[in-house]
Amino acid sequence: MSALRFPADRVLAHGANRICVRDPSSDTHCLKYELPPEQRTRVGTRQRLRRWLARRMPTLGENRTELRAWQQLQARLGDALAGFVTPCDGIVRTPEGPALRCVLVHDAGGTPARSLYAHLFESTPYTAVQLCAAVDAFEAWLLRHGIPLFDLNSGNLVVVDAPRTPCGVRLVCVDVKSILDGREIVPVSRWIPSLRDRKLRRRAERLRTRIRDRLARDRLAPPAG
Ligand SMILES: Nc1ncnc2c1ncn2[C@@H]1O[C@H](COP(=O)(O)OP(=O)(O)OP(=O)(O)O)[C@@H](O)[C@H]1O
Ligand SMILES: [Mg+2]
Repeated sequence: MSALRFPADRVLAHGANRICVRDPSSDTHCLKYELPPEQRTRVGTRQRLRRWLARRMPTLGENRTELRAWQQLQARLGDALAGFVTPCDGIVRTPEGPALRCVLVHDAGGTPARSLYAHLFESTPYTAVQLCAAVDAFEAWLLRHGIPLFDLNSGNLVVVDAPRTPCGVRLVCVDVKSILDGREIVPVSRWIPSLRDRKLRRRAERLRTRIRDRLARDRLAPPAG
């Protein structure tokens, strides 16, 4: 597989497994490409095995898995997903190869929304209290609908201004593949509601702890220069 290269102004973000770029045919969409092995970040044995299998069975790749996960959620929850999960259109053929086409989340100023990771590690106009309240709201929504979205990492959520909510900000999930692609060999926490909810609460609490730690560190850091 040859390396995937895009002009810098088309690249929105690099994930561990995929690159997300602007869709040249639409301002409202983005394209996700699975990276060739040498462009992916290093991972542990379990993930390496998953990648090895996906190279042999494309249906196990990140894009097909995410599309199946989105379709399953869409069939079960329909309009309840609006504002919480960004829609996936399908796999499209492009000159650079197959890509997953998704609705691009924009922030209030009309620019592509930045991930929670970028807010924590680059800059953010929000406080830890505001971002933790946005996690509370997202967690409550997952629990209300019984959605086993366990990969609540800061790269899978983008941050959007929400002036009409009490905390002024909300989170939108841009990667739902973890509802199908879990770490458990026998996915009991997907099947048993009490285990699922306990795991969701643990994951949300871990994210809030990261937010508080990270933004507290920024407050304590001496000014640059
Ligand atoms: N629909 C979207 N709207 C706006 N930004 C997006 C969208 N989809 C992805 N992104 C950006 O691309 C980044 C990576 O996306 P995604 O999580 O889907 O890739 P990934 O390879 O699965 O990453 P990882 O394996 O680390 O979870 C996100 O953090 C976000 O910044
Ligand atoms: Mg992701």
